[in-house]
Amino acid sequence: MKESSGLQPQNIEKLRRNHIDLLKLCSQLEAIADGLPARIDERLCVNVSGTLVSSLERAQALEELILFPLLGQKPGGSNRAVSIEHLVAEHRHDRLAAVEVVHALQTLAAGGCEISPDGTGYMLRGFFECVRRHVAAEQTGLAMLVDEGRRPAVNKIK
Ligand SMILES: [Fe+2]
Repeated sequence: MKESSGLQPQNIEKLRRNHIDLLKLCSQLEAIADGLPARIDERLCVNVSGTLVSSLERAQALEELILFPLLGQKPGGSNRAVSIEHLVAEHRHDRLAAVEVVHALQTLAAGGCEISPDGTGYMLRGFFECVRRHVAAEQTGLAMLVDEGRRPAVNKIK
């Protein structure tokens, strides 16, 4: 990776690792949702509720610092700008939703369920499906930047 691409290898690695962490949390949330209403893994609920917000915030902060500005510089005009705005809006939405998910997980871990099990499952699924789609879009953008950084300089001259 050339430095001129703006993406240094250690930052690519951090962005990818954050995505892996988020997707792992999504799988854990799916396991919790699949277990409702009878099989509630209280330890898993505690573990996920303890890391969800911090993992999300860490990933989002790095993306907004490094990834989004680079994606915003790519050709595509207003379409690209709208796309970045959309990703930023999703970050805001996901942070708010994560707080509700954490509350639901803490309630489950304590043996309760403030809304119906179906409602809790619906909330969890809505959250992790949104995060998975969001991460997939960012992975595509990151892969595009990495690929462009690996091309010979002659291909960049137009
Ligand atoms: Fe993101």
